[in-house]
Amino acid sequence: MMTIKSKKEIDLMKKAGEIVALAHKKLKEIIAPGITTLELDRAAEELIGKNDAIPSFKGYKSYTGAHDYPASICASVNEEVIHGIPGLRKLKNGDIISIDIGAFYKGFHGDAARTYIVGEASEIAKKLIRVTRESFYEGIKKAVNDNRIVDISTAIQEHVEKNGFSIVRDFVGHGIGSQMHEAPQIPNYKTKERGPRLQPGMTLAVEPMVNEKGYMVSLNKNQWTVVTDDGGLSAHYENTIAITDGEPVILTRLN
Ligand code: MF3
Ligand code: CO
Repeated sequence: MMTIKSKKEIDLMKKAGEIVALAHKKLKEIIAPGITTLELDRAAEELIGKNDAIPSFKGYKSYTGAHDYPASICASVNEEVIHGIPGLRKLKNGDIISIDIGAFYKGFHGDAARTYIVGEASEIAKKLIRVTRESFYEGIKKAVNDNRIVDISTAIQEHVEKNGFSIVRDFVGHGIGSQMHEAPQIPNYKTKERGPRLQPGMTLAVEPMVNEKGYMVSLNKNQWTVVTDDGGLSAHYENTIAITDGEPVILTRLN
């Protein structure tokens, strides 16, 4: 269901978003060669708990029939696109890692992802991460009253492809609020369906997933983690935003 949030509800979502942003800030500080993705998960879970929130992802029902999601964050390394499950893997110099974090606070979710560099990364990895972030900002330039979802999608796709990268098709952004996934879906590529018109009070998670090489992805054998078919790198950039009667507001940031 697509819901329109009141000012009060959006203020609560801003709090949830701030907690997500704080968790990202913490992980950014501690990401370095040698740390395990499980240690990152623990640090995020602790920070979310200390802020009276709970991790949105833990226990989330699988859409593939696998076990429920077992961790607080997603930590996807190199050719992993999304839903990397934290574990004993140690990060090494030159890796890139996409961290996705969700927090549930007083009835509302915040959801944001970033791709970080471990130590020193290649030029192509840096460009991939930059273009992915830029594509989010190109997309939300179109996230204004009376536009349609497809306007966001098209702007994201154009920026990514102009820079020689590809957009993942199999996973999309989403409405968000008291449920982590609400209508509408927000593809990162142009679709025939134009999607609903945007209006003030809609809250959306816009999240381009961008591959270095081809856009094709598959599920790995844990039935959660999505990986590129050709082994190319992948980056992710996501924020929860609110549509207003002017510019959209990014909720998953520190104010
Ligand atoms: N941010 C992701 C999403 O929008 C994370 C979901 S992980 C899951 O779908 F485990 F909760 F599914
Ligand atoms: Co999301």
